[in-house]
Amino acid sequence: MKLFSPFEIKSIKMKNRIVRSATYEKMADEDGFITDRLINLYVTLAKGGVGLIITGNVLVHTSGRSAPKILCIHNDFYIEGLKKLTQAVHESDGKIVIQLSHGGRQCASIFLYGAKPVAPSAVYEPVYKVMPRELTQEEIWEIIESFGKAARRAKEAGFDGVQIHGAHGYLVNQFLSPYTNRRNDYWGGDEERRFHFLEEVYNSIRDNVGYDYPVMIKLNACDFIKGGLTLEESLKIAKRLENLGIDAIEVSGGIVESKAEERPVRVKIDSKEKEAYFRAFSKEFKKVLKVPIMLVGGIRSRTTAEDILEKNDADLISLSRPLIREPDLPKKWLKGKDVADCIYCNGCMRFMKLEYVRCTQLEKKK
Ligand SMILES: Cc1cc2nc3c(=O)[nH]c(=O)nc-3n(C[C@H](O)[C@H](O)[C@H](O)COP(=O)(O)O)c2cc1C
Repeated sequence: MKLFSPFEIKSIKMKNRIVRSATYEKMADEDGFITDRLINLYVTLAKGGVGLIITGNVLVHTSGRSAPKILCIHNDFYIEGLKKLTQAVHESDGKIVIQLSHGGRQCASIFLYGAKPVAPSAVYEPVYKVMPRELTQEEIWEIIESFGKAARRAKEAGFDGVQIHGAHGYLVNQFLSPYTNRRNDYWGGDEERRFHFLEEVYNSIRDNVGYDYPVMIKLNACDFIKGGLTLEESLKIAKRLENLGIDAIEVSGGIVESKAEERPVRVKIDSKEKEAYFRAFSKEFKKVLKVPIMLVGGIRSRTTAEDILEKNDADLISLSRPLIREPDLPKKWLKGKDVADCIYCNGCMRFMKLEYVRCTQLEKKK
């Protein structure tokens, strides 16, 4: 089975093609430090047989705090704790990549201790109900540097690589998207200028970690919002990233304010037809790129995962919710199970009501 054949992303030697997609856990402490609960979760995932774990989004700059109890890496004093996490995962035969993130306008003011969320442009965010403040030139450069410094810390802490969160309406996506980037300067005005922020973030990361270290990105193939990123522009962004030397691209889509059925985390995946809802996009990415492509979104069954790989519509299969419910799903798939138990109800997404992210269906069963 191709799904259980090894795969390499530079120095990362994966034992299979299954990736745990970035999943915020609400398990850090109030100040963003690692906790035993978080380490246990990642050890459980590693022991469950997944080929590569991507952490939940980790904060590179305090102005981008998108949720409470989010893991942080915006200061050197987080390195020691993060080392414990990477050591524990490596001792359990796992590989772990950190997702570097800034929430931009998708941050409620309460998570910013009352400060106004920042964004490329002042475009109202209707879900968080915030009117963000346009970033100044100085602030933009400071955030770019914070991505680079965070990558340096991640490498020092023993992570196997980094993934830039460039999807789902977070800050990098906000700069790429004509819907949220209305600037007319070095950072916006046309496709090339909208790419500058990501290009500078990428260069800053490379300056800090070198070219041998795996640097990946999660990208929106389409924003699913009027005036937002389309597949055509996303493919050009991906091509530019490939030329710069990116090591893998995870294909996703949608932002928080997209319609429910077009968001990154869609509900009720109860038939084969509804599975792998970004597959048509990853297929287009595969046609024009050589860089490894991960596909995420509604991949529920082993047979669908196998089919995606066999048809070369992606190189890697990325899962979030199925692994919240069954962290040992890869081992179960290897033994012949087909359909994951997750029913895609999004109970795990009700962060504010939950003490930490978990499968609420399992609780109902108790
Ligand atoms: C509880 C929860 C937290 C998530 N946190 C993140 C995150 O921190 N970063 C990210 O890129 N995506 C995040 N996502 C989105 C997932 O990575 C994934 O793109 C999406 O859930 C679709 O995959 P799935 O159908 O396998 O769940 C999260 C999803 C869930 C359910």
